[in-house]
Amino acid sequence: MNPFELFQSRRCIRSYTGAPVSDGELQKILQAANTAPTAMGQYENVHLTVITDAKLLAEIEAACAEFMGQPGSHPLYGAPTLVVASSRFPGEAMANPAYSDAAILVHTMSLAATALGVGCCYIWGAVVALSGRPELVKALGLPEGFVPCCGLVLGQSEESYAPREIPQNRIGVNYVG
Ligand SMILES: Cc1cc2nc3c(=O)[nH]c(=O)nc-3n(C[C@H](O)[C@H](O)[C@H](O)COP(=O)(O)O)c2cc1C
Repeated sequence: MNPFELFQSRRCIRSYTGAPVSDGELQKILQAANTAPTAMGQYENVHLTVITDAKLLAEIEAACAEFMGQPGSHPLYGAPTLVVASSRFPGEAMANPAYSDAAILVHTMSLAATALGVGCCYIWGAVVALSGRPELVKALGLPEGFVPCCGLVLGQSEESYAPREIPQNRIGVNYVG
């Protein structure tokens, strides 16, 4: 698959069989995160947490469902793995690069998952919800000073990826000069 076919194939998958991602696939997806750029190349300011603990995933999902005012919903879609990207915030002025670093890691992993045929979906809502629950943040076991920013669920799905038509003008562009 050439890179442009990969970009056109990537999409969010929101139905999972519950079957786990193989360790080989997971390691390739984590390796892809290591290829991502970070602000000033400070890789020590980002951290990934791979959560497969079903009880913790259920607690995060319940926190998100409550946060969204939709009790009983499944905002992690039954995926067996959630990778949370966390950043270290050296100060409010650095919040933009800190969030951006985490987002770029997640997007890079999503492209890797697409290339491998592993289902994935960006997860911000559940990470916002868990960030408001100190006991859930503690359960992530993050190194000192890291803040959860966003995540990616991973899992096997009966859905598959294929290049699709993408509207070419859906993002506004203006040219200066
Ligand atoms: C910043 C951001 C936050 C997102 N948060 C969620 C989320 O919490 N749950 C979810 O199911 N999808 C989430 N998404 C996925 C978007 O809904 C999805 O990427 C968008 O609708 C385009 O669809 P596609 O990714 O399938 O092309 C998020 C995407 C981004 C970039």
